[in-house]
Amino acid sequence: MKIKNICCIGAGYVGGPTMAVIAQKCPEVNVTVVDINEQRISAWNDKDVENIPIYEPGLSEIVREARGRNLFFSTDVDSAIDQADMIFISVNTPTKTYGIGKGMAADLKYIELCARQIARVAKDDKIVVEKSTLPVRTAQALKNILDHTGNGVNFQILSNPEFLAEGTAIDDLLYPDRVLIGGDIDSDEGKEAVNALVDVYAHWVEKDHILTTNVWSSELSKLTANAFLAQRVSSINAMSELCEKTGADVNEVAKAVGMDTRIGSKFLKSSVGFGGSCFQKDILNLVYISKSMGLNEVADYWEQVIIMNDHQKRRFAANMVRTLFNTVSGKKIALLGWAFKKDTNDTRESAAIYVADYLLNEQAEIVVYDPKVKTEQIYADLDYLNTRSSEENRKRVTVVNSPYEASRDSHAVAVLTEWDEFLKLDWQKIHESMLKPAFLFDGRRLLDRKTKEDIGFEFYAVGS
Ligand SMILES: NC(=O)c1ccc[n+]([C@@H]2O[C@H](COP(=O)([O-])OP(=O)(O)OC[C@H]3O[C@@H](n4cnc5c(N)ncnc54)[C@H](O)[C@@H]3O)[C@@H](O)[C@H]2O)c1
Repeated sequence: MKIKNICCIGAGYVGGPTMAVIAQKCPEVNVTVVDINEQRISAWNDKDVENIPIYEPGLSEIVREARGRNLFFSTDVDSAIDQADMIFISVNTPTKTYGIGKGMAADLKYIELCARQIARVAKDDKIVVEKSTLPVRTAQALKNILDHTGNGVNFQILSNPEFLAEGTAIDDLLYPDRVLIGGDIDSDEGKEAVNALVDVYAHWVEKDHILTTNVWSSELSKLTANAFLAQRVSSINAMSELCEKTGADVNEVAKAVGMDTRIGSKFLKSSVGFGGSCFQKDILNLVYISKSMGLNEVADYWEQVIIMNDHQKRRFAANMVRTLFNTVSGKKIALLGWAFKKDTNDTRESAAIYVADYLLNEQAEIVVYDPKVKTEQIYADLDYLNTRSSEENRKRVTVVNSPYEASRDSHAVAVLTEWDEFLKLDWQKIHESMLKPAFLFDGRRLLDRKTKEDIGFEFYAVGS
C-alpha cells in the first residue's frame, strides 16, 4: 500500500515541523496540515517564511522548499480528511482543568472531536495515526468511536509518538534516535498499515531505526521516555540543593557521574527547573493512570519528579528574595529569557513564568527580555495563572527589546533561559548600568562565575 495523501490535524509544535520534514523527504506525497486556528494557519501561509508561527532552527528553510509544492496549510479540515489515505492526529492533549482527573489526567476532548470528525467525513478506508501523546489504551477508544459512528469504512489505528525536542526539532526529525510505530501487528490489515507508515519514514530513516510494536507498548513508551528524562532533571536538581549546602558544585558532580557509561552525560544539567508542554503533563497523566489502576506506589514514585521540579522553581525565586535583603518590594528585577528553553519561542510551563509570579507576589517590578517570545505571550502566560488581574500584570511587568534596557537601573538580573546570546553580552556594561550591589542569578548554569565576580557582580548560580 502506497500513501499518496497525508492529512495532519493540528498545526502546532509537533504537527508543523513533522509534516514539513515528511513533505520535504517524500516529494511524491501530498501533505496537508489543517487546524481550526485560523490565525495559526495564516501565519504558516505567510509569504515571508520567517513569519511562520513556530520558531525552530532550520524549519523555515524546509517550509520555503516544500510549501505550495506538496506541503499545504489549511483550515478546511473536512476536505483534507476526505482526500487523505493517512491521517495524523497531532492536536493538543493538555492536563484536564475540570471534573474527574482535574489537574492530572490528559484532556482527550480534542482527540475525541477529531475522531468524530474523521468518522463523519471518511468515505473510504483510512489509516489514523496517533501522533499526539496519549494515555495507554487510547487507541481502543478511538477505534470504538470510528467503528461505531463511521460510514462503515475500515480504520486502522497506529500509534506513532513523536520524540522530537523543541529547539532541535528539525535535527531530531531528520536524524531520529528511533521512530516508533505501534499497530495491530496480529492482523494482516494492521501489518499493512504499519508497513505503509514504515515506508513513509524509510524515505530518510534507516530501517533498523524504525521500531514496530503493539499499540499499547508504543503509547506507553512515549510516556515512559518523558518520565525518565524529567526524572533525570529532578534528580540532578535535588542534588543541586545539597551542593549549595555542602560546598560541592553540581556541574562537577554531574560530570563525574555522567562519565559513568551506565549513566551517561546527557540531561544532567541542573537548572531552575524543567518546563515545556510535555514533561509535567505526561508525568501527571502517568500518575493518574497508575492511580486509577490502584498502583499507588508507582503513582507516588513518579509524582515526586513533579514535586521536586515545583520545589526547584520556588526555591530559586525564594533565594532571590532572601539574597536581596529579604525584600524585593518595589525593586526592579530583570529576567533574561522567558522561553522554556533556548531556540524555541514556546513558553508553556516555562520556569520563568513561575519565578516572575513569585517575585510579583513579593511586589517586585519585573522587566523581561527574550529574543523570540512575543510581548503578548508573556502577559498571556501570567494572566493564565490568575494570580492577579491582567491590568496589574501589565502595570508591574514591562517587556523590552534589549537585555541592556532590561538590566538598566535594576537591583538584580536573573538568567532563566540558556539563550546563547546571553553568553556574549557585555556584562561589564550591564554591571555599570545596575544599582549596587548588583546581583546576578544564573538559573541555567550558563555564565562563568569568576569573570562575573571579577566585574563586581554578587553572583549566585543553581547548585554551587
Ligand atoms: N511540543 C512538543 O515538544 C511535543 C513533543 C512530542 C509530543 N508532543 C505531543 O504532541 C501533541 C501536540 O503538541 P503540540 O506541542 O504540537 O501542541 P500545539 O498546541 O502546539 O498544537 C496543537 C494544535 O491542534 C489544533 N487543534 C486542536 N483541536 C483541533 C481540531 N479538532 N481540529 C483541528 N485542529 C485542532 C490546535 O488549534 C493547535 O494549533 C500533544 O499531545 C503533545 O503532548 C509534543
